[in-house]
Amino acid sequence: MYKNIQLLTPDECVNYREKIFSLKDIWINRARALSPFDDVPFYCIGVASYIDCINPDTNHYYFDNAKKINKVLWENFSGLYKKVEKAIQDEFDCEVRYIDDFALPGFQIYLADWYFEEFTGPKHCDFHHYLLDWKKYGINFEPENNLSFTASIKLPKAGGGIYMWDKTYEYDKEALDNISYEEHRNRMYCIELPDEERTHHQYQEGHIFFHSGNKYHQVAVVDQIENDDERLTLQGHCVRDKNIFYLFW
Ligand SMILES: [Fe+2]
Repeated sequence: MYKNIQLLTPDECVNYREKIFSLKDIWINRARALSPFDDVPFYCIGVASYIDCINPDTNHYYFDNAKKINKVLWENFSGLYKKVEKAIQDEFDCEVRYIDDFALPGFQIYLADWYFEEFTGPKHCDFHHYLLDWKKYGINFEPENNLSFTASIKLPKAGGGIYMWDKTYEYDKEALDNISYEEHRNRMYCIELPDEERTHHQYQEGHIFFHSGNKYHQVAVVDQIENDDERLTLQGHCVRDKNIFYLFW
């Protein structure tokens, strides 16, 4: 399942790009989240469960910063979040809510670097819901009904997109908690998936791309990076309890 729908006008994309750059002080360097290097220009605004909530000893970083950064995100991008909410309501006939303690969907920022012509993040399924304690908030869901999305604010001139494979990460549901998230992640990352079996979906500026997150996917490489290229996207995930989608990152 995937859907690609228009969310923003070109002028709105320009305005949100400016806001992203006006918040440079709070960009978090994430080079190490997708490369062995410190200077690959990859940043986030916001904290992400799959990076910041993996280790119970350091999870306070996610929760402390979610509280702080959510406020800034909401002050600057409430119009964008409202549009995302409306798109989800219209497309999936569901209400949208947030959990105050969890991170709002946040931004991924890739600046120009040859590295992105060859490498991107790993092939994975979105398993992040597993890292957060939904039961504490009385929320029950089946991961089969999850939703992930990417809203593109600015893309490289040669395009930006996602590779998808028709394959799901399989695990023993009864034994889900017997292994850690890191172990699940390592098993996910180890999979061999041939390039010939993937489909390449191009993102479009101003559009939001929805998929379940349950099929293997990967950020697509860019054919040719130009010096002034940027890839700015809003990223988020949702779990569904009855007719309510809960958004988080
Ligand atoms: Fe993903």
